[in-house]
Amino acid sequence: MISVTLLGAGNVATHMFKAFSEAKGVEVKQWYNRTYSSISSYKNEVDIIDDLKQLKNADLYIIAVSDDCISSLSEALPFKNRLVAHTSGSVNIHDLDKKNNRAVFYPLQTFSKNTVLNFSEVPICIEVLEKENLKLLKSIAKALDCKTYKVNTEQRQTLHLAAVYINNFTNQLYRIAHEISDAQHLNFDILKPLILETAKKVQTISPYMAQTGPAKRNDKKTIKRHLKQIDNKEHKAIYELLTNSIKKTHGVPFSKSNPSKN
Ligand SMILES: NC(=O)c1ccc[n+]([C@@H]2O[C@H](COP(=O)([O-])OP(=O)(O)OC[C@H]3O[C@@H](n4cnc5c(N)ncnc54)[C@H](OP(=O)(O)O)[C@@H]3O)[C@@H](O)[C@H]2O)c1
Repeated sequence: MISVTLLGAGNVATHMFKAFSEAKGVEVKQWYNRTYSSISSYKNEVDIIDDLKQLKNADLYIIAVSDDCISSLSEALPFKNRLVAHTSGSVNIHDLDKKNNRAVFYPLQTFSKNTVLNFSEVPICIEVLEKENLKLLKSIAKALDCKTYKVNTEQRQTLHLAAVYINNFTNQLYRIAHEISDAQHLNFDILKPLILETAKKVQTISPYMAQTGPAKRNDKKTIKRHLKQIDNKEHKAIYELLTNSIKKTHGVPFSKSNPSKN
């Protein structure tokens, strides 16, 4: 049985706790968070602690806290020569304190505490400094039924950058669309099949091939009408920026002085 201790109680740690609890061959030895109350409801399922001095021996310690405090938390760990991994897409592996064996166990997915997620569909990007630790991390991912990818820091940070475009920026566009439809008392549900199909289409064809719409077709009158419809300055700037980006990608000509109004 591989023992794992979780540090942090946010979106990622909560999903990991649930996935580990259901996995065979892995046990959550302890769950630490600086705020006890965030995890106290799990006290009948696992040893809950809010004091690092209470940490017991485990095969792996997973630090799933905000990026900016990974380094200080790893420094505060009261032991050395054990395996410690963080879960961030962008934090350098060397930010972990070198008194322990350092690794990254980055689950490339968007996690929100209260949404349901099939953890076995999450790709795990693994990075290690000491080769001998790779096997254990792969075994843990295997217990969760997850695919693993061995990446270096630069590759992980590139994947994280791509993920920001794919998830965070796209979601912000959903938010703008939600605001626009709400303002006209239109049910956002009408747009949900489009959201699903957009994500589904790129599973089988490239994003380049999947593009449709007025910018790609160079439907100037429609673009002009849309710009007239948008009151919010920021939304308008985003519309123009993305319209020009699509035009550039698809070789649609536009005037440099007033690119969106050709
Ligand atoms: N969310 C995602 O979709 C996602 C996906 C992949 C990877 N990640 C990575 O996973 C890690 C955790 O992300 P998350 O979304 O789970 O974070 P989160 O939900 O915002 O939770 C943050 C956690 O960090 C703790 N924390 C914050 N400041 C702290 C400090 N100064 N000292 C000690 N603990 C502190 C919080 O403790 P309290 O409860 O006491 O505030 C909480 O447990 C990050 O490195 C992130 O980059 C996130």
